[in-house]
Amino acid sequence: MTVDYDPFSHEAMKDPYPLYKAMRAEGKPHFIEKYNAWAFCRFEDVWAASLKQEGNITFTAGQTPGQVILGELIPKTFMTMDAPEHRKWRGLIREAYTPDGAAKEAPRIRALVREFLKPLLAKGKMDVYSELANRVTTINGGYNLGLPQEDAEKWRALIDDMLWRDEGQVGGGSERNQKAAGELFGYLGAKVAELRAHPEEAVRHAAAYLHAEIDGKKLDDEELVFYLFSLLVVGSETTPITVGGTLYNLAKNPEQKAAVLKDLSLVKKAFLETARYNQPTNMLCRKAIADFEVNGAQIKAGQPLLYIYASAERDENEYENADKFDMYRQPTKRTLMFGHGGHKCLGMHVGVMMGVIILEELLKAIGDYELVEEECEPLYGEHLSGWGKVTITFAPTSLKD
Ligand code: HEM
Repeated sequence: MTVDYDPFSHEAMKDPYPLYKAMRAEGKPHFIEKYNAWAFCRFEDVWAASLKQEGNITFTAGQTPGQVILGELIPKTFMTMDAPEHRKWRGLIREAYTPDGAAKEAPRIRALVREFLKPLLAKGKMDVYSELANRVTTINGGYNLGLPQEDAEKWRALIDDMLWRDEGQVGGGSERNQKAAGELFGYLGAKVAELRAHPEEAVRHAAAYLHAEIDGKKLDDEELVFYLFSLLVVGSETTPITVGGTLYNLAKNPEQKAAVLKDLSLVKKAFLETARYNQPTNMLCRKAIADFEVNGAQIKAGQPLLYIYASAERDENEYENADKFDMYRQPTKRTLMFGHGGHKCLGMHVGVMMGVIILEELLKAIGDYELVEEECEPLYGEHLSGWGKVTITFAPTSLKD
């Protein structure tokens, strides 16, 4: 029996994992007639499609399901460029995202985490996502662009509102989504005007794109706003989702939790296993520009292609006991945790560095914790997956050195 799958359906946005399992069981890429699109759910299919991208697909039709399937606005940045242009524009900030680049920023991130932890520790209860982890990652995004930290709560709330989905909502077109996007574009537009007026004050990524000239091309104001917008959003959600998920998964697996609490060097293993088990980038999409074949699927030019990372990372043919959270899992030869190919996650080293530091500092301070299950919520939407709210309680304490 064929699975009735629609990435924008309430069923898929609430809990896509049963649907993914059923589609993987079909043993081939899944055709979605409603959208004339292909869903790659098996690890092997996402992998094979990722290897065949050159000349067969384009990123210029967007990356989110809303952009590629529903035709939503595409902020034009390197993320929505094809080779070889993509590499050149992405390369402008690459240095900050190498393992060395990430290590250089670690002391600043640790200090930020400790600053936020201080008042939270006395309360004995927190939502780890919104009160701690998402604050750190959005402030870091703003720091890279030279945005004032005191505005962070404002843009953080706008990003949340942009990604919000009401029950059954198809795509990001609700009044709440559009109002938030409009305000964020307005805020960043004002920042671009400031940068144009005082280019000498531009720092880090903002400076890189303000002054960039590649193959004779400079960015106009709208393109610069798109860069600031995309860089702010892309680095702010996946890491805190994984931090919250790590605490959730450890609480559900008491032996692994005890081991981590005893030896905090295991935090990284638990974080990475969570990025597999609750892959935060549910899916990204591309559009075919040529006819080609992927594991028996005859792809036609113009068809949207869904690379469903959250499903691939639960594929029983790739991972033994894929539906089990096991931080002791041996690293596999290949992974789709951060995607694959030329558009592989730029921020993976920074994301892991931030996630590990947040968890280390939190667990070092609180020692142990309990989940408040009724105050934990999975994300609801087509694009991101994992835990968007993870509330824990612990014995009130203070910051330790
Ligand atoms: C646990 C944390 C994270 C996970 C699991 C994750 C995962 C991913 C995945 C699966 C992709 C798609 C790759 C592809 O299409 O092949 C991606 C792309 C990307 N990620 Fe991450 N990411 C994380 C953190 C971050 C952070 C902190 C940043 C900071 C800037 C970031 C920046 C990006 C960018 C810029 C791209 C697009 C790259 C391109 O189009 O060239 N990510 N990420």
